[in-house]
Amino acid sequence: MNLKEKILEYLIENETSVSGQKMADLFQVSRGAIWKSIQSLNSEGYEIEGKNNSGYFIHPVMNIISEKWLQKYLHQPFHIDVLDEVDSTSTYLKKIIDGQSIPCLACAYHQSAGRGRTGKSFFSPDNGLYFSLAFKVDEKVDLTMITIKAGIAVLHALKNIVHKDCQIKWVNDIYYQHKKVCGILSEAMMDFESGKIDSIIIGIGINLFVDKFPVELEDIATSLDIKKCNKNLLIASIVNGIMSNCNAMQLIHEYKENCIIMNKMVHFKMNGNEYTGLAIDINEKGNLLVKVNDEIMVLKSGEVSLGSKKYE
Ligand code: BTN
Repeated sequence: MNLKEKILEYLIENETSVSGQKMADLFQVSRGAIWKSIQSLNSEGYEIEGKNNSGYFIHPVMNIISEKWLQKYLHQPFHIDVLDEVDSTSTYLKKIIDGQSIPCLACAYHQSAGRGRTGKSFFSPDNGLYFSLAFKVDEKVDLTMITIKAGIAVLHALKNIVHKDCQIKWVNDIYYQHKKVCGILSEAMMDFESGKIDSIIIGIGINLFVDKFPVELEDIATSLDIKKCNKNLLIASIVNGIMSNCNAMQLIHEYKENCIIMNKMVHFKMNGNEYTGLAIDINEKGNLLVKVNDEIMVLKSGEVSLGSKKYE
């Protein structure tokens, strides 16, 4: 570790003000060297404040995504990559997941080829938050439940960390003030030899601040209007939520309470046919039950749209 990395780690671990002299003694360098390293860290985007009487203090609310901060907030070890340039954090993880012994996390400030569900692209400009996590699972894993857990983890983090109240549109779109603000893409990876699912990649994109949406998204997407927040805490809280053990019944209960389509008329396609019906329930597997005429249809995945709006 070089001096800058040592200072960064020390300030993050301490979270209170630390005197320049204390760090100089600890790392056996001059106070001038400490000052220089801190200037350099600040020029990279960290926000380290120096006060004559109390020393140096690092602000957690900054726009930089930092591996060290993430590690501090995460409840378990992750292989972490923070990427300046990437096509898609999920595509990136697909390439590196094999051979990793611990879960992986890839984060980016923007994506050049963000992927959405059903082969669509995901608008990923600067000032958003784009990250994916990958972890090993046993073959019996239920992808719908993981997706539902991810949705709830996002809702909790947005409420607790950035104080925004959002809702979910089944199965995994996060809505803020009636428009989509976050998308979640869950993908299962197959082990070629056994032919069984052996890992899951969950990619999450949050529109923190968007200057202008492309015309085709203007009516259906929005941003949280956040220019600065503790991105590391936001990412880590979501990841911790996804990785935590939770009670499936409780999860579904909470999901239903926050799901904007419950007891509303929805449109959907199934096997090439179009249907309209009343969304009446979400079962213990996370499937959506829709009453179409007198029949109850069970949707395991796919897209539904509310009222007359088409989200497809
Ligand atoms: C959707 O709403 O259709 C899902 C969008 C998922 C977007 C995220 S951004 C991070 C990760 N990388 C991608 O390419 N996609 C996911």
